[in-house]
Order: sequence, then C-alpha cells, then structure tokens
Amino acid sequence: MAYRYITTPIYYVNDRPHLGHAYASIHADVMARYLRAAGHDVLLLTGADEHGEKIAKAAQQAGEEPGAFAARHAQSFQQAWAQLAVAPDLFIRTTAPAHAQVVADCLTRLYQAGDIYLAEYEGLYSVGQERYVTDKELVDGKLPEDKDPPVLRREPNYFFRMEAHRPWIRDLLRDTPELIQPAQYRNEILKLLEEPIGDLSISRPVDRLAWGIPIPWDAGHVTYVWFDALLSYVSAIGYPDQATFGAYWPAARHVIGKDILRTHTLFWLSMTHALGIPPYQRLHVSGHLLGADGRKMSKSLGNGVDPLQAAETYGVDTLRYTLLREVSFGFDGVISNAIIEQRMNRDLADDLGNLAARTLAMVTQYRGARVPAPQTYTPAEDAIIAHATTLPDRVLALVDEMKLAQAIELVMEFVRQLNAYVASSAPWQLAKDSNAAGRLDTVLHTLLEALCCTAHLLAPVMPGKMQQLLVLLGADSGPAWHLPWGHGVTPGNVVTTGILFPKQG
Ligand code: MSP
Repeated sequence: MAYRYITTPIYYVNDRPHLGHAYASIHADVMARYLRAAGHDVLLLTGADEHGEKIAKAAQQAGEEPGAFAARHAQSFQQAWAQLAVAPDLFIRTTAPAHAQVVADCLTRLYQAGDIYLAEYEGLYSVGQERYVTDKELVDGKLPEDKDPPVLRREPNYFFRMEAHRPWIRDLLRDTPELIQPAQYRNEILKLLEEPIGDLSISRPVDRLAWGIPIPWDAGHVTYVWFDALLSYVSAIGYPDQATFGAYWPAARHVIGKDILRTHTLFWLSMTHALGIPPYQRLHVSGHLLGADGRKMSKSLGNGVDPLQAAETYGVDTLRYTLLREVSFGFDGVISNAIIEQRMNRDLADDLGNLAARTLAMVTQYRGARVPAPQTYTPAEDAIIAHATTLPDRVLALVDEMKLAQAIELVMEFVRQLNAYVASSAPWQLAKDSNAAGRLDTVLHTLLEALCCTAHLLAPVMPGKMQQLLVLLGADSGPAWHLPWGHGVTPGNVVTTGILFPKQG
C-alpha cells in the first residue's frame, strides 16, 4: 500500500466558497477517493488561509475582528465541503498555534542561515492576489483577475533570497517533466525562469498590517500571507519531525488553479529547497471556470453558479459529475445551469439512469426481482466482460494524471456499450420465448454485473448515487475496486426498481 497526500488550495476565507473553490476541492476529493478505493493510504488536506491584507480588509468592512471574521468563514467552508461530499481528512487553519510555531521556526532558521535580509521596498502591490506585481503583468493598469488596480507601496520588508534558487528550480522542472501538469503550465514557468525572478518580500510592517504571524526577531513586522499559507501544506502533517510528515510528504500532490501557479512554483519550491524539504511530487493545475458570458466566473461579475444552490437544485452528485466531466482539468471551460441540466439529462438520466431503470424493471418483471444465474456466454458477453476487466486500470491511469473528464468518459463509453447490448439482445423478445429462458438469464445477469462494475467505477465521483445504485442492484458490498467479474451481484439476491436520475426541464 502506497501513501498519497493530496491538497486543495488553502482558501482565503473572506467570503463563502464559490464554484471555483468547489471545482478545485471536488477534483482533489475525487482523486483521493479513487486512490483510496484502489488501496492507497490517502490523506486529503484542505483549509483556511486566514491572515493577510485581504482578510483584514474584509473583516474591517464587515465591522468584525479579523480573528472572529475568519473563524466564522472557515466554518462556512467546512460546512460547504460537507454539503458537496468533499471529505478532507485534515482541515488546517493558518491561525492554529501549531502552524504559527512551524512558520516562526522556519523563518528563524532561514534568518540565521542568512537567507533573509531587510531592505526598503518600492513596488506595485495587488491586494486581490496578495502579492507584488510587475508592470509586464498589467493589462490596462491592473491584473486581469483583479477588480482594483495595484497600489504603490514603499516600506521596509524582510526579503527571502528566492533568486538564488532559480537555477535549481529550472533544473528540477527540466529533469522532472511530470512535476507540473498539464505540460503547458510547466512550459510557462520554464520560460519565466529564463530571467531573474528576484527575491521575495516576506514581511509587512505592523503599522500597516497587524493581522499575521509575527516575525520572531522583529515585533515591527508580520509574516507575508503566502509565506505563511504555503507552509500549511507541511505544518498540517507534522513537519518537521512527526511520522505522518515522513510518510506522506514524499507523495504530495497539490491541486491548484492557474492563477496561483507562480506562488506554487517560484515561492514554494524555493522555500522548500532552502529549508531542506524535498519538492512536492506533483502540481496539478486547473484552468478557470467561465460564466455563460465566457468571462472568468466571479462574484463581482455576477456570472457565477452558487455551488450550494446548484447542489440543492440538481443534487450534489450531479453537480460533481458535471463539473468534472464538462470542464477538462487544466483548461478553461464554461459552466451554467443550462449546461448542468443538459449533462444531467443526457449522460445521467438518458444513458446511465435509463440503463439502470430498464435493467431493474426487467429483472423485476421477468425474474420476480431475483438476480438470475448466468448460463452460456456468447461473444457479446465476452466483449462486455473483457471491457469491464480492463476498465479499472485504465481509469486509474487517467486519475493519476488528474484527467478526470477522460476517466469518466471511459466509464460512460462502457455504459453506452451496455445500452447497445440491451438493444441488440432484446430481452423483451427473449421473455416471450420459453426456449430462451437461459439466454434471458445470461443477459440480465450480465447487465446487473456490469452496472455493479459501473457503480464502483463512478462511486468516487458520485458517492451517494452509486451507493444507492448498489443497494438497488442487491449488491452485497459497498463500493469496491476491481472485483473479479461475477463477484458484484449474487444470483438469488433481490433487486429493487428505482429512478436514480430523474430527467429535468
Ligand atoms: N489562499 C490562496 C491559496 C493558498 S494555497 C497555500 C488562494 N485562495 S483563494 O481562496 O483565492 O482560492 C484560490 C483557488 O480557487 C484558485 O487557485 C483556484 O483553484 C480556485 N478558483 C477561484 N476562482 C476560480 C475559477 N473561476 N475557476 C476555477 N478555479 C478558480 O488563492
């Protein structure tokens, strides 16, 4: 059994979670569920990034203390994950004392090693992204993802010698092509690394911003929010000396959106390198969800879909399926209520739901709701069994690269093969012919067994609905992985009819 450590971004808790957050978290959760089903020992981390200017400003606007404000929102994130069937093993809060201690220890070590120095800084700062920006990044005077233009800042800051790690990061990316996926993001960073990346400002003067982890040797400064938040990936699992860190860190996979690619490569890789922490194993980078108007989904534009409302309207499993299937990881893609409804009706109601409903109805009608025992297989069944037998490994290979849309599509291809099999074997004709009783048993058993296999393969995506399907099928086990053919349903067990995915609209 191998260890796997999967992380979502540690979200700013300045508001309720939106669909962009849900997109990253659902991907991480589904990968965790697949790997766990396949027998790995998995830890899934999410959490709340509670310090920094963005939170301080939002708290001030709400007329609350930043600590109370962040705690309230951290809780709403935790509740949202439960409602979206995202089941983290760990939830880190950057205000937790144990985390603050790790940050302070790391800062002290780097300072003592001469990796941190004090200097006067002048530059343009984006509060939205919580980082200094360069002129080159600005479009019409601001970052495309920001509402407001950056502000000019001149102040003393502590700096971390990030530039010194540039050659090492470049070599790492060159030597480890799979480190950043999909490849276009690795290429983007390799290009950036051709020129100096500069040193990283890692502190803020308290007279401007007091909401942060104090710099251990200078009470006049607090830690820069990104330096603090990135360390939560290791503090959450007991860095530096706990066994959990030793076991899981070598298998760390971060799931992030492309808007935070630089921080997770330039900042994080140089930080870990300076601290003597091995680099993460993978960075899985998503594109952006776009609203129906084709622009990046955001609250201010009002083009977003509320994840909790969508889960309420369509069901959480339908929402999870649609998000994963519709927008291929790594690429931008449009999501709207109309798109969710279309996917739900086509893939879930028409293809999968209909196959299950028809099969269960036929077993009920022709075999008194008992699972029949198969008789002689023909090439049609052999083809289905061969397909079912190779599917789990093919699905896992795609999951390993976070190609979840393709993994799902493989299973849905199988579902379409089964629908074609229903049409070509025409059980309703067989039911009229008393000489075809054995053949009908074989067809019905094959369909039940194949549906059981489908339920196992899609359970990480739709845990609730696939568990329900297994119950309707009279399957003995809960979701399992790679059951040999014939071990899903047991002849003689009772099935129940039911509609898993009612058609809408
Ligand atoms: N706090 C930092 C992350 C620190 S990780 C050590 C942060 N938080 S955030 O709340 O702004 O969430 C960022 C993540 O939300 C992005 O990386 C991205 O994954 C996701 N998204 C936000 N809007 C998005 C879309 N419209 N589409 C897809 N994901 C986007 O950054």
